[in-house]
Amino acid sequence: MWYFAAPREIVFGEEALSHIEFVGGSRAFIVTDAVLQQLGIVDRIVGLFQAAGMETEVFAEVEPEPSLQTARRGGELARAFAPDWVVGLGGGSPMDAAKAIYVLCQRPELDPTDINPMETLGLEDVKLMAIPTTSGTGSEATFALVLTDTEEQRKYSTGNREVVPHVAIIDPELTMKLPPRITADTGLDALTHAIEGYTATWHNVFTDGLCLQAAKLVFEYLPRAYADGANDVEAREQMGNAAAIAGLGFSNSLLALAHAMGHSAGALFKQPHGRTVALFLPYTMEFTVNGGGARYADIARFVGLTDSHDEGEAGRILVEAVRGLERTVAQPMSLAELGVDRAEFQAKLDQLCAYAEMDTQFFTAPRIPDDDELRRLFEYAYAGKAIDF
Ligand SMILES: [Fe+2]
Repeated sequence: MWYFAAPREIVFGEEALSHIEFVGGSRAFIVTDAVLQQLGIVDRIVGLFQAAGMETEVFAEVEPEPSLQTARRGGELARAFAPDWVVGLGGGSPMDAAKAIYVLCQRPELDPTDINPMETLGLEDVKLMAIPTTSGTGSEATFALVLTDTEEQRKYSTGNREVVPHVAIIDPELTMKLPPRITADTGLDALTHAIEGYTATWHNVFTDGLCLQAAKLVFEYLPRAYADGANDVEAREQMGNAAAIAGLGFSNSLLALAHAMGHSAGALFKQPHGRTVALFLPYTMEFTVNGGGARYADIARFVGLTDSHDEGEAGRILVEAVRGLERTVAQPMSLAELGVDRAEFQAKLDQLCAYAEMDTQFFTAPRIPDDDELRRLFEYAYAGKAIDF
């Protein structure tokens, strides 16, 4: 038995935000961050809810890696407000925090750490809406959320099918002004979701087409969104779609080694999620190709890179295309280029390997490295060397 979970409605394209007028309800609790408040995006969204006759309360305290404490506080405030909509407005962090707050305002006896895929939450009264302001995480379309215990310095990466948003609204208006660096980091996160979602061992017939389409969209539109995103509505719109489509795919098939290694390096070197997972993607793909491959030829053909059905040949063409795309958007291609000090890298190498091996995405990789191979993968990725094992 298997499940495919998805939002009830995804509203996308230009003027998608106007859908807010038709969602119904009287009270919206908006979960967001201080940056979006300063940029005026929160006022814009609040205005749309108010024009629809709804009362709003804004909780703009979500930090870049939302903490359990923030989720608890937001849950209490939301419960006091008694909304019929909880709205996650922002990148992955506000959307993830909104998922936890959506649970806690209805189940105040729970702690955020009680949210897991096995728990029946029984949420019926309130609805959840996600409005992404970046194009990468795909959280608007998934059941996944990541929270951080700031006291114990550990992450809770969890999920539950009941926290898939009822409605996701993906409007390019909100991503037009994203800086190129964030455009690249988040867009490459979406590409990594697409490629890993297609090749993870839990891939299935419901997720395959979504992952292929998302990969194709990123190859086509990320260079444009990076180069001239402030003026290219089509590129912004298609990158927003790509992120959500990849989210639908990977969240129902899981991910692989680039995420396991990227989570580890991101935590130890304090780097953005998309930047680290994208950094490891070509290395882990090369490692997988060397072991016989993992359906990379399907992706390479669908993207239009080759006609080859040969897994080795087409796999290498896809790896080079990923590297080419990353160079186009000026992404750091090695841990050294990322600015990680050699001595610090050596000192943390054992921990890097240990964290990666504990990551849930490690076990759904199409080729799982042994201890020695994992260590060498990190070393090669530090130096920028092609994987030859
Ligand atoms: Fe990711």
